[in-house]
Amino acid sequence: MSTSQHLLHIFSFALFFFMSRAAEKPHGLILPIRKNSTTLQYYTEVDMGTPLSNANVVIDLGGELLWFDCDGYNSSSYHLLRCNSSKCKAATTYECTDCNYPYSSDCSKNFCGVYPYNPLGNGFIEAGLALGEDIMSVSSTDGISYLLSVEARHFPFTCRSTRLGSILGSELSGGTKGMIGLSRARSALSSQLASAFKLPHKFALCLPNSSATGPGDIFIGGGPYYMLPYGDVSKELMTTPLILNPVNNSPTRVGESNVHSDEYFIGVKSIHVDRKHVSFKESLLSINKKGIGGTKLSTLAPYTILQTSIYKALVKDFVKAAASRKIKRVTSVAPFGACFSSKTIASSQTGPAVPVIHLQLQSKSMYFRIYGANSMVEVEKDVLCLGFVDGGSNPTTSVVLGGHQLENYLLEFDLASSKLGFSTSLLLRNTTCSHYRLF
Ligand SMILES: *[C@@H]1O[C@H](CO)[C@@H](O)[C@H](O)[C@H]1NC(C)=O
Ligand SMILES: *[C@@H]1O[C@H](CO)[C@@H](O)[C@H](O)[C@H]1NC(C)=O
Ligand SMILES: *[C@@H]1O[C@H](CO)[C@@H](O)[C@H](O)[C@H]1NC(C)=O
Ligand SMILES: *[C@@H]1O[C@H](CO)[C@@H](O)[C@H](O)[C@H]1NC(C)=O
Ligand SMILES: *[C@@H]1O[C@H](CO)[C@@H](O)[C@H](O)[C@H]1NC(C)=O
Repeated sequence: MSTSQHLLHIFSFALFFFMSRAAEKPHGLILPIRKNSTTLQYYTEVDMGTPLSNANVVIDLGGELLWFDCDGYNSSSYHLLRCNSSKCKAATTYECTDCNYPYSSDCSKNFCGVYPYNPLGNGFIEAGLALGEDIMSVSSTDGISYLLSVEARHFPFTCRSTRLGSILGSELSGGTKGMIGLSRARSALSSQLASAFKLPHKFALCLPNSSATGPGDIFIGGGPYYMLPYGDVSKELMTTPLILNPVNNSPTRVGESNVHSDEYFIGVKSIHVDRKHVSFKESLLSINKKGIGGTKLSTLAPYTILQTSIYKALVKDFVKAAASRKIKRVTSVAPFGACFSSKTIASSQTGPAVPVIHLQLQSKSMYFRIYGANSMVEVEKDVLCLGFVDGGSNPTTSVVLGGHQLENYLLEFDLASSKLGFSTSLLLRNTTCSHYRLF
């Protein structure tokens, strides 16, 4: 072998080594987010098993486990988790189950059984469904493009064949067959992928609207976050503490004490409409000893849900502020409480030019601003409604910030520092969550 061949050899080996290393330790990971315009659910696609098969699954920001209908899923790399494994113990509710259901008839009594919950159907999928693990293939990213796919070898999930009877619920959007959780739980997508690839324990969401032309993003492992054509927004995020609700009021944890919530709460201090303070009992905005109250973020609520007194006060002040902008009110269309003639509303870079809603966070100058594109919903031709709904007088959580209000913002959940980073409305940057991408 000549020296130059030798060098080439070393070089290609180094390149191979570098590339395989790059594949092992990606800079970050990316998954697409799409929205179904009928159900208003956000979903992503996961690629699992050997051979890889894909499934669209609804995104639940507060959810714990990946579960899907595995009818026809026949993966040679799938295996069941034992009852005594650490992954089984990381699943919050588990039991030792008899059979490695749904796969074979081996009933040796020490498989891990979990209780996957479907919040859309307000019910458990099934009790003691076996927890298994398999390869998950996910695209790496540099914050701009979809790059090489990498494999997490032991991704935990549970599944059930619909051949055993229908369970998965018609509540899921057509074309999807399960759910994926992004909560603080150790079994959630973000924790699993961050630890599989030793990435910083953070993820970001950019929720697209339903008429959007391209998908939004789930980024795992941190920025940069290129919102083209504008650029990287990771350096201009404002931050607010993520609050740990000390009580887990989820149906999966009923009766258990000393278990905190896995959902993401933030500290909204007050609400303003066109800079005027909306008046209601502000103690509703804090979380009490029973875990009641406060503000959380949700991808399953299509519109923000407010405790009745907050809802009524907001609608009243919004209607008043709209009237002073000469916006004409029209008959309300359920479930909304205030609708307006869009002929009397100008348009702006941030959607319909309606009163701006400010959620004041930890300090007097820290706001999450909700402009017309996020506050208003077009219910019929020429009618725009204030897109907030009444959550009744005794909800568990006083303010549930829903999807419509979070679209086209970049939201970064940093679990290591327990902070939520948020961009301004991307519309102000002349881009959206369905921004250009390089492939
Ligand atoms: C599953 O795959 C194995 C080979 O990997 C094959 O022998 C078996 O017939 C398949 N089962 C089904 C139900 O497709
Ligand atoms: C779990 O149980 C299996 C079979 O019962 C056993 O072989 C294994 O050593 C146990 N593992 C731990 C971590 O206890
Ligand atoms: C959205 O969900 C509806 C209702 O489940 C379904 O009929 C429709 O096909 C879905 N749309 C897309 C684009 O998947
Ligand atoms: C949704 O986003 C697209 C850009 O992707 C924009 O053109 C459209 O107006 C938006 N629709 C609504 C209802 O905000
Ligand atoms: C966005 O576009 C508007 C008008 O189309 C322009 O005035 C503004 O400077 C642009 N903003 C950015 C951040 O590019």
